[in-house]
Amino acid sequence: MAWPPSLVETPATPEKGGDVYEEICRRSKLHCVTIRNIDTTARPLQHTPASMTNPDETGRILEASGQKQLTQRERFEKVRTLVHRDSDAASAALAAEIAALIRERSAAGRQTVLGLATGSTPVPLYRELIRLHREEGLSFTHVTTFNLDEYYGLPRDHPESYYRFMQDQLFDHVDIPEHQINIPDGTVPLEAVYDHCLDYERRIEEAGGLDLQILGIGRTGHIGFNEPGSANDSPTRMITLDRVTRQDAAADFMGVANVPRSAITMGVGTILEARCLVLMAWGNNKAAIVREAAEGRMTDQISASFLQNHPNATFLVDRAAASNLTRFRFPWLVGPVEWDAAMKKRAVVWLSQKLEKPILKLVDEDYNENGVGELLASTSEAAYEVNIDNFNRVQRTITGWPGGKPGADDTNRPERSTPFPKRILILSPEPADAYIGMGGTIDRLKEQGHYVKLVFQTSGNLRVADIAALNFARILLEMVQTDQSAEWESQTAYAGSIISSIDAKGEFGVDPESVRKLKGLILRGEARDAASVCGLKYHDTRFLDLPFYEQGRYRRFRLDQADVENISRVLDEFAPDSVFVTGDASDPSSPQALSFKAFSNAWKMLKNDSTTPVPNVWLYRGRDRSFEAHEIDMAIPMSPDQLDQKVEAIRKFMSVNDADLNASARNQELAATYDALGMAEYEAIEAFRRWVPEDAAEG
Ligand code: F6R
Repeated sequence: MAWPPSLVETPATPEKGGDVYEEICRRSKLHCVTIRNIDTTARPLQHTPASMTNPDETGRILEASGQKQLTQRERFEKVRTLVHRDSDAASAALAAEIAALIRERSAAGRQTVLGLATGSTPVPLYRELIRLHREEGLSFTHVTTFNLDEYYGLPRDHPESYYRFMQDQLFDHVDIPEHQINIPDGTVPLEAVYDHCLDYERRIEEAGGLDLQILGIGRTGHIGFNEPGSANDSPTRMITLDRVTRQDAAADFMGVANVPRSAITMGVGTILEARCLVLMAWGNNKAAIVREAAEGRMTDQISASFLQNHPNATFLVDRAAASNLTRFRFPWLVGPVEWDAAMKKRAVVWLSQKLEKPILKLVDEDYNENGVGELLASTSEAAYEVNIDNFNRVQRTITGWPGGKPGADDTNRPERSTPFPKRILILSPEPADAYIGMGGTIDRLKEQGHYVKLVFQTSGNLRVADIAALNFARILLEMVQTDQSAEWESQTAYAGSIISSIDAKGEFGVDPESVRKLKGLILRGEARDAASVCGLKYHDTRFLDLPFYEQGRYRRFRLDQADVENISRVLDEFAPDSVFVTGDASDPSSPQALSFKAFSNAWKMLKNDSTTPVPNVWLYRGRDRSFEAHEIDMAIPMSPDQLDQKVEAIRKFMSVNDADLNASARNQELAATYDALGMAEYEAIEAFRRWVPEDAAEG
């Protein structure tokens, strides 16, 4: 395979007074200036891409993007963006290209210099590279690596150090010589940091520069740890971490207070000097920042936006992370669309929100002047008719009967009326998720007489603060001392071992199994307390403690067949009429995404028995980005009292480091959104979307 010269060759050949690399950069700058001058609110001039309806693009990733024709969508996206179905597919495609690059260069006796990232994003890429090494003989003996960053103050053997991460996730499993691995050292004394950073830059240069730099993106838009304010020519240096970044790392460190405050990171300038850049992003929590970085203006407030000015930079994203890009969110602004019912609803909701006018007040000119005149033209309907039609569509999502209304006409209701009562299965990835996403709806389902089963997929023990386990152990010891009875005596050893295990692991260490077990049990109690706030009894709940969670830690979970079988058993035994589930668009490394995967794989194993109707599956959103109004198929209004009750349920999770009390604010925001569209004014709304299994959607 012939590689693009900008990638394979170390720039050396002089050309028109400069080298090839400079020339490409120069051209790319011209290219970017042109793009930036385009008015992105203008209507498109030409028709374009198939990728709006079929988002998956399997083109070459490591490809020079220097000078080229602008496609319609690139009027919005100022950096080449490839969208794959999921993170596994995208990572496999990238790994194959990296492997080809390494092989080609190794065959020529040359090193490949890779810049590497940590965090959850590159994990599937590293897994695939390891597989290629094991199964297809890919050798790393001719590879030199430079990692982007390291937390300052963490020793190498700390479980959350990036040094340790890289050993665990890649280096321990491939044949890379140790001396070819470079990671900033988070333990150098403060006064030596400057020299250490200079030395890091020098080493990159001596290695011939980075052939390829892999990047993730933080929610602040950082690449490496270049937080807002990092200049585009910033060098490797010490940086203070942004509050959002520290919050995002809180689960790894058992609480935000434990997350280091600073880090050593390659600078934006250092990164941009790589000959090729691939920024990966997965899950809908990244959707907003991906859009800003790809479509917004270049700014030091979002360091990833500087990739727009690089001659060979690609964003490689999954569908969830791509969902905010204009071509998916407002496809009619990018090219012609098929005006089916869903597209019309989306455009009308968008227009109403854009103009801050209720749907029923939109007029023909509003459509024409905002690029959706084609919607009217497609059916030769007037705004008035389109408005009513779509007002009704939104209106009909609202129901006080999440399990269907007995005896009612189902024509326009989100959930069917029969059977009644229904067997309703609610899957909660971590114990608090179901309450966060649908606490009010759980209460209603129970109140309306359905047989509700709330199944907690994982124990959630990693979220429980040490202090909760310590308190339990201390109470046991107190009992021994005050009660003096032999009965309590036997508990001394247990309590002592919990206290000493927590002491021994220190602030950031890993809990041994006994502590995780205790924390899981503490959470069970809280989850049941919350259940009773929502009207559920003890036997309405079930704890699965899926093994992937028990054996893993954040960002490093791995789903196993046993997890899928567990969910499959629940589906078989409970035989639900409706299922509520979440995690479909979450960060793929999160317990939510893996719990969803366990469900969707189990779903495929369901016996296709034509005598029993297929259950309806409803998606809810827990900690993830909420649904947008046009995505909602069922909206359950809540009264102020119901909202208070939901908050009370979430508050039961007292031992959890970061219980999400903003959930109620999100429900209120959604009610305000519906109100602004012209619907009735409710205090709060919980939202659901119908799940269409991938195969059914594509078949
Ligand atoms: C890690 C790094 C960071 C991460 C970013 C996203 O070396 O440099 O920029 O890539 O914070 O983190 P994840 O992948 O965990 O979402």
